[in-house]
Amino acid sequence: MARVIRVVTPASSSPVVLGRLAAHNEAEWRLAVVPGLLDPDNRALLGHLAGVRRVLVVAGAPERERLVRYLDRQQAGGLLDGYCLAPEAKLVAASPLSAIAGLADAAVTSGLGRRDAILVYGHDSEVLTAVATAALLRRQTMAVQVVSDLPALLAAVRTAASVPLPGPFAVRRQQVTVVVDEDVLLAAACTPEEEAALEELATMDSGVAEALLGSPLEGEALTAVRRAALAAMFRWFGRAWTTRSARYAGAPTGRAVSYQVEAVHDVFRTTSRPDGRGQRDTADTEPGAGRLAEWLPRGGRVLAVVDAYAPRIVDDVRRYLSSCQERSLIAGFEIFCVESSPAVKTLGRLDRLVRTADRMDFGPTDVLLGVGGGTVLDLVGTAALMYRGGTPYLRVPTTLVGMIDAGIGLKVAVNVGTRKNLLGGYHAPLACLCDPAFLATLPSQEVRCGLAEAIKIAMVTDGELFGLIERHHESVLTRRQSPESRRVMEGAIAAMLGELSTNPFERELRRLPDFGHEYGHLLEAESGYRLRHGEAVSIGMALASQLAVLAGRLSPSVHERMIRLLNRVGLPTFDRLCEPERLWRWLCVDIKSHKGGVPVLVAPTGTGAGGFLEPDDGLTFDTVRRACAELRA
Ligand SMILES: NC(=O)c1ccc[n+]([C@@H]2O[C@H](COP(=O)([O-])OP(=O)(O)OC[C@H]3O[C@@H](n4cnc5c(N)ncnc54)[C@H](O)[C@@H]3O)[C@@H](O)[C@H]2O)c1
Repeated sequence: MARVIRVVTPASSSPVVLGRLAAHNEAEWRLAVVPGLLDPDNRALLGHLAGVRRVLVVAGAPERERLVRYLDRQQAGGLLDGYCLAPEAKLVAASPLSAIAGLADAAVTSGLGRRDAILVYGHDSEVLTAVATAALLRRQTMAVQVVSDLPALLAAVRTAASVPLPGPFAVRRQQVTVVVDEDVLLAAACTPEEEAALEELATMDSGVAEALLGSPLEGEALTAVRRAALAAMFRWFGRAWTTRSARYAGAPTGRAVSYQVEAVHDVFRTTSRPDGRGQRDTADTEPGAGRLAEWLPRGGRVLAVVDAYAPRIVDDVRRYLSSCQERSLIAGFEIFCVESSPAVKTLGRLDRLVRTADRMDFGPTDVLLGVGGGTVLDLVGTAALMYRGGTPYLRVPTTLVGMIDAGIGLKVAVNVGTRKNLLGGYHAPLACLCDPAFLATLPSQEVRCGLAEAIKIAMVTDGELFGLIERHHESVLTRRQSPESRRVMEGAIAAMLGELSTNPFERELRRLPDFGHEYGHLLEAESGYRLRHGEAVSIGMALASQLAVLAGRLSPSVHERMIRLLNRVGLPTFDRLCEPERLWRWLCVDIKSHKGGVPVLVAPTGTGAGGFLEPDDGLTFDTVRRACAELRA
């Protein structure tokens, strides 16, 4: 359960805190020992699958056959919509990330949605890849792991908090369900691996030690030892959930996260000291405004990932970090330049970035720093999420989208092929430092995209902010550092943080900040990124709003007011990709699976108010067709 503590409003003293988000993210853990697990009439496994309708199965040959028989029976009884078997080839890949990408692709192709599950049997490297994939797929998909021997159970508990992958990668888990196939476990002959596991357990639990003492490890005696071992596992599970000293599970308790969004000025400025001749000595510089320096790790290192949109930004970051190093604030740094494009948010780039951190032997006192737009911030956040199970990072957004949206939430993700944001998670930065000076060089088209995100959050949550944007969008476009422009920016950040604070880890899939994004993401990817993110979101908003009018949920005048604003800002409200058949198919397949099985769109119900539109509310193929016709006109 996520519990949000507060969002604070801008303070006048330095630093200017635009907002703070604090939340607690508690992991969910379950361990069960089930007799007759795969008996056709036993519903226990379905119970652990918690109502999912579709599963992807990863299992070795003998277990697969038993699972298939069981799942066929459940499907025939109408308790499951379907299942599919993971293609083995997808799990054997050159790198852990490509194996994860292959399995994620298989999951999506087989129609696995955000409320469905990956069902794994055993504990080999393929199973670990599958568990890691589930933890990253659409930022969290349920994995249920069945084990049928004690060594596998011990291994499952050891990797409960974080799944190690080859190389420097590790994936933290939120939801862990381990189910013991008791009959198989009790019936098997004792292997040397099991004997070693029992001996290890005996050193930690007197019950196991007593049962093991002088036992022949066969027949009744073996069963008694195994039962003692299972009982011990339950005791450790219970402790592991609540203490930090558990020896097996590595303290998989909840995590508190807290970070703030600050306004800073001249974030990379270094002030030069005059040399003896009164000249500025550029080599002898001091960190300028200081706020960034305060977040940098004392004595640690920095890996700065910089969007090299201009040579100057890279020089500024280098000069700044050099001056921090010269003054012994940090021990060292490296700069990883990227030239931002959709090709940046890929697994290939993620792999290179994580391996760079590894080559630097990045430790817990080192920090990743992302300097760029949403693309770079997402890439850096995902690298921070996956490097050895989580490393600290800072965000310095340089675009309006970065400042009011991508920079301030917990979400991070990378694309897989044409699928946007397919793999990722929730990883809070140490802080997000917004310096509006960056907006001076931002192309107008990108400012328009930022305004699309501001209009999005205003339209469904904050009528006053919407009015402010109506009055001052011109100023945001042309005088980007004007007081009006700042008010719009601060209002959008506050509105966004307000929404995020109620649902920071998206336990609730229906979120108002998704307004325009359901179709937006699909249009952006399908257009081959011809449409920028904000442009695609603008079209998505127009579609959802028009559908709300046709469903009788929104007055036409409010819809027209929003369309007028989008047009005045210079954003598109229709695209040739908006064909009714395509939009309907996306709704019934992609959006439905992303939204937990219900095709649903966020739609405004007034200026500054939003709700959700689904087929029962009049979202039909016919209304989609009519909406396209209206918007095309
Ligand atoms: N994680 C989230 O919650 C979230 C939210 C919104 C968007 N996003 C993601 O963010 C991405 C879009 O981000 P974006 O709109 O910031 O685009 P972007 O990061 O791709 O940047 C757009 C362009 O502006 C350039 N640029 C960046 N800063 C500049 C500056 N100060 N001056 C001149 N040029 C500059 C970049 O090089 C790039 O060419 C998408 O991938 C989207 O999925 C993520």
